[in-house]
Amino acid sequence: MARGLALVILIGLVAGLIVRIVVRPIRVAADTSEKLAAGQLEVRIPERGEDVISTLARSFNGMADSMQSQITQLAELSQVQQRFVSDVSHELRTPLTTIRLAGDVLYDQRESFPPATGRTAELLHTQTERFELLLSDLLEISRFDAGSAHLDTEPTNLVRLAEDAIDQMQSLAEKAGSQLRLVAPGGYFEAEVDGRRIRRIVRNLLGNAIEHGEGKPIVVSVDSDQHAVALSVRDYGSGMSEAEAERVFDRFWRADPSRKRTIGGTGLGLAISLEDATLHGGALEVWSRPGAGSCFRLTLPRVQSEPVGESPLPLQPQDAFGPAPAVAELRPPAGVDHA
Ligand SMILES: Nc1ncnc2c1ncn2[C@@H]1O[C@H](COP(=O)(O)OP(=O)(O)OP(=O)(O)O)[C@@H](O)[C@H]1O
Ligand SMILES: [Mg+2]
Repeated sequence: MARGLALVILIGLVAGLIVRIVVRPIRVAADTSEKLAAGQLEVRIPERGEDVISTLARSFNGMADSMQSQITQLAELSQVQQRFVSDVSHELRTPLTTIRLAGDVLYDQRESFPPATGRTAELLHTQTERFELLLSDLLEISRFDAGSAHLDTEPTNLVRLAEDAIDQMQSLAEKAGSQLRLVAPGGYFEAEVDGRRIRRIVRNLLGNAIEHGEGKPIVVSVDSDQHAVALSVRDYGSGMSEAEAERVFDRFWRADPSRKRTIGGTGLGLAISLEDATLHGGALEVWSRPGAGSCFRLTLPRVQSEPVGESPLPLQPQDAFGPAPAVAELRPPAGVDHA
């Protein structure tokens, strides 16, 4: 009996010792690596004695040291690059303004030049315009990278905003042969958003839809629920493969860089749109199939810093693989369908 008790106590002591020597340090190591993985780069395992566990702690800490210094180095390098882009863009603004003014003078007098020179003045004019657009996009991107982009929110009616954007793009759509239609079945359309940023997103989505819509109709839908407002732009044009759709928000990415463009064309539009949506705590997503067209959906919280939850609009359109709606269904072009 007494021997049995002694054995139990002995087993207990040995188990306690094993916990002290082996299990506890492993737990500390596990906690420390979790903290490291969560971004607390300065945490280390306490190093005591010369046993195997301490050797393990030392090499773990060595690994953490080298990781921390490499991450710091990379972060510094990335900051230098961001500052470089921002500085170059700012520096280019002054000479570009001068070129623009001189170009405008030549452009205004192009009729009086011999045809070849007149054509050169026109070329200078359009390319300077593109250059200015690219530069303002670059400045905007560098503001996002520097974390200095801020929201200037006010209660905004998304349907009215969509109507204005459609009006602005109407002539471009007509030139491409596309009808623009707005579908807004009713609900809470007011949301606390930065109107300038959201207008820019919608204009870019419409511009892209017109550019790639192959003259087929384009449907803008707006819907909302208690928590979120959503706006989607659906076209029935060329569409994209899965691999292309995955890259669509990458900076400077264009499916076909050699394609002749009627508007824009730097490949920064959707990258900026995504940053703008994220700044609102919202989302910008894409559905696309080759030959069936694309649908871009923007979802925004109705009140800042509140979670969006599920979007009030589907990402995959109900007519995903059906034909484009007949033009007759689309009149009046910018009519609002209230259910
Ligand atoms: N609705 C669409 N249908 C098919 N392809 C699209 C559509 N929208 C975007 N894309 C593809 O994604 C690319 C990137 O679009 P994004 O708006 O970022 O740049 P962009 O329109 O080329 O130039 P910009 O900077 O002037 O907007 C486009 O060049 C095009 O290849
Ligand atoms: Mg674009």
